[in-house]
Amino acid sequence: MPDTVPRRVGVLVSGRGSNLQALLDACVGDFPARVVRVISNIAGVYALERAERAGIPTSVLSHAGVPRAAFDAALRAQLMDDGVEIVCLAGFMRVLGAEFLEGWPVINVHPALLPAFPGLHGPRQAIAGGVVQAGATVHLVDPGVDTGPILGQASVPVTDDDTEDTLAGRILPFEHRLLVQALRQVAEGRVQVEGRRAHIALKPSEQRWIVG
Ligand code: GRF
Repeated sequence: MPDTVPRRVGVLVSGRGSNLQALLDACVGDFPARVVRVISNIAGVYALERAERAGIPTSVLSHAGVPRAAFDAALRAQLMDDGVEIVCLAGFMRVLGAEFLEGWPVINVHPALLPAFPGLHGPRQAIAGGVVQAGATVHLVDPGVDTGPILGQASVPVTDDDTEDTLAGRILPFEHRLLVQALRQVAEGRVQVEGRRAHIALKPSEQRWIVG
């Protein structure tokens, strides 16, 4: 049994939800967090089905035609109503403003070795850039696009015959591992931020760099 109450987590999604699934699978037993709400900005996505199957309350809050500040405020209001303490972005394809980010840690996972290749299509950018190592990054979100303090990274090779899809598929399992590990670290209060750097009190089983 955990000796503290698990942290309440809200997960924002936009699509398939494999990162959400990794969180749902992890948040059991003595894991120090529980998913209490899943919100998608797009109706009908598979992530919502995954949440429903796991018995987690879901909401769809569409961004379409909604000013960004109002969209952010609606997201925030729902998550606050649920008593959320930590927010995870799991394939959530919107940028959140400073007012949304205030007062709770927001964790994002990105399919590139930041600060290289922020924004959309990390694997496509890596192939176009001719790099020989690509990867995944988990980080705390700040108001920039994929610019917040890095919590962990994993690196995978890029092969000559890689397509965007094959490379993305090689990176994805590492996203899952990194996101779950980062949530555990944040939930256990082991992350301290100093400027752009995150300092983490690592457990013996943890690595900030995972090499694929
Ligand atoms: C992941 O690669 C995520 O990093 C990116 O979009 C993809 C979403 O995958 N932003 P999923 O919805 O978690 O399966």
